[in-house]
Amino acid sequence: MNQTRKILVTSALPYANGSIHMGHLVEYLQTDIWVRFQKSRGHQCTYVCATDAHGTPIMIKAREQGVTPEALTEAVSQEFVRDFADFGVDFDNYHTTHSPENEALTIEMFEALRERGDIHTQEIEQAYDEKEGMFLPDRFVRGTCPFCGALDQYGDACENCGKTYTPAELIDPVSVISGATPVKRKSEHYFFRLGNYESMLRQWMRDAALDPNMVAKLEEWFEAGLRDWDISRDAPYFGFRIPGTEDKYFYVWLDAPVGYPASFRNLCARRPDLDFDEYWRPGHDTEVYHFIGKDIMYFHTLFWPAVLHGAGFRTPSSVFAHGFLTVNGQKMSKARGTFINARTYLDHLDPNYLRYYYAAKLGPTIEDIDLNLDDFVARVNADLVGKLVNIASRCAGFISKRFDGQLASALPEPQGFDKVAAAAEKIAEHYERREFSKAMRIVMTLADEANRYIDEHKPWQMIKDDANAPAVQAVCTQGINLFRSLMIYLEPVVPDLAARSRAFLNETAWRWDDAGTPLLGRSIERFKPLLTRVEADAVAKMLEQSRESLEETAGSQDDDEDPHISIDDFMKVDLRIATVTAAEAVDGADKLLRLTLDLDGETRQVFAGIKSAYEPATLVGRQVVVVANLKPRKMRFGLSEGMVLAAGDGGREIFLLSPDTGAKAGMRVK
Ligand code: 2FM
Ligand code: ZN
Repeated sequence: MNQTRKILVTSALPYANGSIHMGHLVEYLQTDIWVRFQKSRGHQCTYVCATDAHGTPIMIKAREQGVTPEALTEAVSQEFVRDFADFGVDFDNYHTTHSPENEALTIEMFEALRERGDIHTQEIEQAYDEKEGMFLPDRFVRGTCPFCGALDQYGDACENCGKTYTPAELIDPVSVISGATPVKRKSEHYFFRLGNYESMLRQWMRDAALDPNMVAKLEEWFEAGLRDWDISRDAPYFGFRIPGTEDKYFYVWLDAPVGYPASFRNLCARRPDLDFDEYWRPGHDTEVYHFIGKDIMYFHTLFWPAVLHGAGFRTPSSVFAHGFLTVNGQKMSKARGTFINARTYLDHLDPNYLRYYYAAKLGPTIEDIDLNLDDFVARVNADLVGKLVNIASRCAGFISKRFDGQLASALPEPQGFDKVAAAAEKIAEHYERREFSKAMRIVMTLADEANRYIDEHKPWQMIKDDANAPAVQAVCTQGINLFRSLMIYLEPVVPDLAARSRAFLNETAWRWDDAGTPLLGRSIERFKPLLTRVEADAVAKMLEQSRESLEETAGSQDDDEDPHISIDDFMKVDLRIATVTAAEAVDGADKLLRLTLDLDGETRQVFAGIKSAYEPATLVGRQVVVVANLKPRKMRFGLSEGMVLAAGDGGREIFLLSPDTGAKAGMRVK
């Protein structure tokens, strides 16, 4: 085996504003499998993580809950730790970014960069909520899209037309926090000159041997030019105060990756065998790898290596990005019940199943992976239960009942065992390159062969003749050893199942190399079922529970992309015929008309973005269709009490929907 390597591994730090779900688990399970593999190979591999605690969303959420952000993130961390532990994600340390180690390292890096001339300040103008006395991040401003007129869009991009813009461009912007109309206000921000690092980053990208898709993305970013990075935020903010200021804080994305070395430093304090500088200062023979999702590549492949390098730290050996998870071929959806939290899964299913399924799907690239639930049931049952565990269950009974638990002292077919032993290096290579699906395929092919071996020898028939007893013991010893070696290869993926198997074999620990030496002449335990089949029913219940938990949290933010609404949703919309009794332009609004509508005696004022297509005077007397039960919205110009339905692309292409003659104001549209 190669010499012992010293490896430090991280997964992205989960943000403290939600729960761990199936999508997160792709990354934590991928990383954990890789780390367990390295450890089983005898390397010193350390896996650290932490909760990403800072930022405006956490501050606001804590305020809403009437707790401190510290208390909120502490509680969330505890939930994360339980979820991870129950999925077998075995961190050597789990910390938080709101820690003294992180503050000290962040300040050290910042000061070092400032010393080098990489930090400058500049005044910028942002949306400001005067009622709350705070600057608003783009996502905390909502309003009407300036391009397509879609209502209630975020301050950075429209979910309807996909265009991006600044909060200042939104029509009728409101602060999500107070409902006030934001004003523009200037303040001084700190910027990191990322552009100073282009050649360093190009070199790092080559040294890190990044995945070609990642390289392509980086090339795009280099091409576009590396822009200065705004690393400060104004008070109030949950984070670390910038030294020498009263009211400026480090932006959460500056101190988040610093959470990696900070968590490691926290671990070093209780692990004398680990030396911080050996892993984080240049010039040592150690390796550092970050596992991340493809959505946070910019932070990890540009900002982070540049900050580390500039501040006198070592850069990561590499960054491994994975793709997103789809469930049944689609984005996870709360409505379909496929937005499955880690805990919901655990309430119904064994974590070994998911660990194996993800491993069987995962490769080293940023390609998305699909959790197809039918395939999940079929594959886990076929491979883990039907192939692997089956080898042991077919042999174990004879050993315990007929041979008092004693294995034979020699293998009847050493070449069969040697074949499995010889696969060790190929399988290891695949693990090393994060080609888990290829590793799983080899293991399952070998499991098929092991089952064929048992089928050919038929110990259940041989045993009928007492004279065959030694041969039966030998065949079953062979089968159990094939099972054992394969289980050693699978231990990084299914550690619980491996531990149960090891207990059955009366062993205390396995290392990778143990797969090459058979277990002979020893007694093993009575066989107990190691793994039960996945029941489709349990999967259905899990989906049901996920759907129910959606109902409980209805009204919370939902990134569901299911384009359908239910008939119940539709029935909630009260569509009515109205007659326009007055129409006029609105001072200070380019696109809006103020309409006065008559809904059979009830008068409503509605602002409609139809000015580019209609002369106000032509509308008076016309009938239109309105959403009558839309929550009234306070706009800068007054209250809007409904919505007029129109079709078209905008500009002159806007067509009001009008009923056939005969309809009367107030009539319900059915
Ligand atoms: O994307 C996220 O959820 C971030 N919390 C990941 C941070 S990774 C690292 F930089 F801390
Ligand atoms: Zn839009």
